[in-house]
Amino acid sequence: MAPALAIAGPNRTVVEAMELPRLIEIEPGLVGAAFDLMKLLPARYILDRAEEQGLVDPSTQIVETTSGTFGLGLAMVCRLRGYQLTLVGDPAIDARLARRLRDLGATVSIVRGAALEEGVQQARLARVERLKSRHDNYFVPNQYDNRDNAAAYGVVAELLAGTLAGIDCLVGTVGSGGSTCGTTQFLRTLYPELHLVGVDTPGSVVFGALNGPRLLRGLGSSLVPHNVDHRLFDEIHWVDAATAFFMTRHLYRRHCLFLGPTSGAAFLVAQWWHERHPNANVVVLLPDQGYRYADSVYRDTWLAKNEALASRVPREPISISHPHEASGSWTRISWGRRSRDEVVGIAATS
Ligand SMILES: Cc1ncc(COP(=O)(O)O)c(C=O)c1O
Repeated sequence: MAPALAIAGPNRTVVEAMELPRLIEIEPGLVGAAFDLMKLLPARYILDRAEEQGLVDPSTQIVETTSGTFGLGLAMVCRLRGYQLTLVGDPAIDARLARRLRDLGATVSIVRGAALEEGVQQARLARVERLKSRHDNYFVPNQYDNRDNAAAYGVVAELLAGTLAGIDCLVGTVGSGGSTCGTTQFLRTLYPELHLVGVDTPGSVVFGALNGPRLLRGLGSSLVPHNVDHRLFDEIHWVDAATAFFMTRHLYRRHCLFLGPTSGAAFLVAQWWHERHPNANVVVLLPDQGYRYADSVYRDTWLAKNEALASRVPREPISISHPHEASGSWTRISWGRRSRDEVVGIAATS
């Protein structure tokens, strides 16, 4: 008789198969939690909770604003469950991604031109409001403010805690705040001293830098999401696009990890922190794969055209005393688990 190979059985869906990260020891003591598509997890979890609460049924129109990855996660879950989905994005959604979303049955509505003058996020939210008014039965997952986004990461904390001998520091990029804050809330029940390092970019107001244009997307925002619990963070870094792109390429060339640019930004900071704390166990969240960026971040001509082709990156960040000073390649501040008002309202110590 042939030995039984499948004990647990196959994953029931591609979402289940892909939603958890692979844990990779990039250097001794520095573990990357590498997701194929991090946003699959909150997309699946938010719809599970909405179904449980009777907020969605097969006739519900789902409407969400997204710059890409959350939209792709939602589109996959909605396709498999038969929900109608409209995604409101901005020109950061490239034609190729828009085609993938449409192939999955989603309607993609891109906000362009004068509507963007008030700010990208504001313009997208205004379009969502208009779309909602056209439907009696709609559901907005609202990844920025829906607590279930952060709650989805309980399983990631469980995976990390169950696999690693100990965790001293978590480094992750911050957009909605779901991944860093959600994972940390759970991990701190085991490791109250866990040091949380958030990675943002100049031009994003999430941690109080001045609002401005941002070439590095996925992390940062022109609004402050409710899912960012500022009091969880010990330290914040701002990494600009050219620096993040350089490190993204480095991760591939040096470590064979073909990932997106927010992973490059997070890895830069994680590696620096780990160098300063060589005995600490550090985990870095690496949100997505590199394929979407093959014609941009992975192409020198695109980088040069966008003035984001760096030949090297700084060895360390410049410490600043107030978030308004966040500019240039790489800056950092000791956040000290304070509220945003406490840090932005007064001059912080670094
Ligand atoms: C590629 C990428 N990296 C990082 C983030 C930030 O993750 P979070 O929204 O959990 O803060 C996002 C958010 O959309 C993203 O799309």
